[in-house]
Amino acid sequence: MAFLKRRWPAPPRVGVVLGSGLGRVADELRDAKKVPYQAIPHFARPTVDGHAGTLHLGLWRKVPVAVLQGRLHVYEGYTPDEVVFPMRVLGLAGIKTLVLTCAAGGIASTATPGSLMIFADHLNLQGLNPLAGSHDERWGPRFPDMTQAYDAALRRVALRVARKQGLHCFAGVYAALLGPSYETPAEIRSLQRLGADAVGMSTVPEVIVARQMGMRVLAVAAITNRAAGLAAKPLSHQEVLAAGARAARSLTGLLRAVVPAIA
Ligand code: HPA
Repeated sequence: MAFLKRRWPAPPRVGVVLGSGLGRVADELRDAKKVPYQAIPHFARPTVDGHAGTLHLGLWRKVPVAVLQGRLHVYEGYTPDEVVFPMRVLGLAGIKTLVLTCAAGGIASTATPGSLMIFADHLNLQGLNPLAGSHDERWGPRFPDMTQAYDAALRRVALRVARKQGLHCFAGVYAALLGPSYETPAEIRSLQRLGADAVGMSTVPEVIVARQMGMRVLAVAAITNRAAGLAAKPLSHQEVLAAGARAARSLTGLLRAVVPAIA
């Protein structure tokens, strides 16, 4: 923490995590100090294309923010503890509001490429929980409540701003799978029956830890593709990144208005 305190212009109020292909959102910050993850004690470094691995400390429309450009995934071989470590750092930094973004495949009929989904709830199907293992009370309760994992007031703000900006945006349920292979069409059909509106390979571990620490969470998925079997063509990471880059524009516009409203 001492390492970061020496580098931030003001204590950050909002934490932002940028998902696959969404890194450009960080260009919005003013006078940002850019700290590579390698330089930060105990931080792991992302290995995936489209995830830079830089912490930006700066002002976004006058709000002091900490933006994590590049996230860690369990499928990269990191332990769940390593994946969530940056969230714990943000929590210790005093951040009470966390905005998580990710790319996701669309399952609901409204979840078309280029649309944005605000998380209403999730299905943790990664087979992992970052809180499993020995418990350290300093992080929060052993059995955190997940009834309101996603803050209803933050969701309303995001949906209202999106409507004003004319974005295709809806609230829905995110299913987190381990990856890194994409799903089969049979898996997507079963996720549909379980109530999933979108599918991805991230975000949920961070949410669990943030909730344990008592942070309010807003999560937004940029829908980059129709999920497996719902479109005629096979999926590719390159296509996900390209669609992510296009969605980054709507996402940037959304967050530019949402971050000052929720800080
Ligand atoms: N499945 C899982 N993760 C994803 C997808 C998908 O279709 N698109 C972007 N991330």
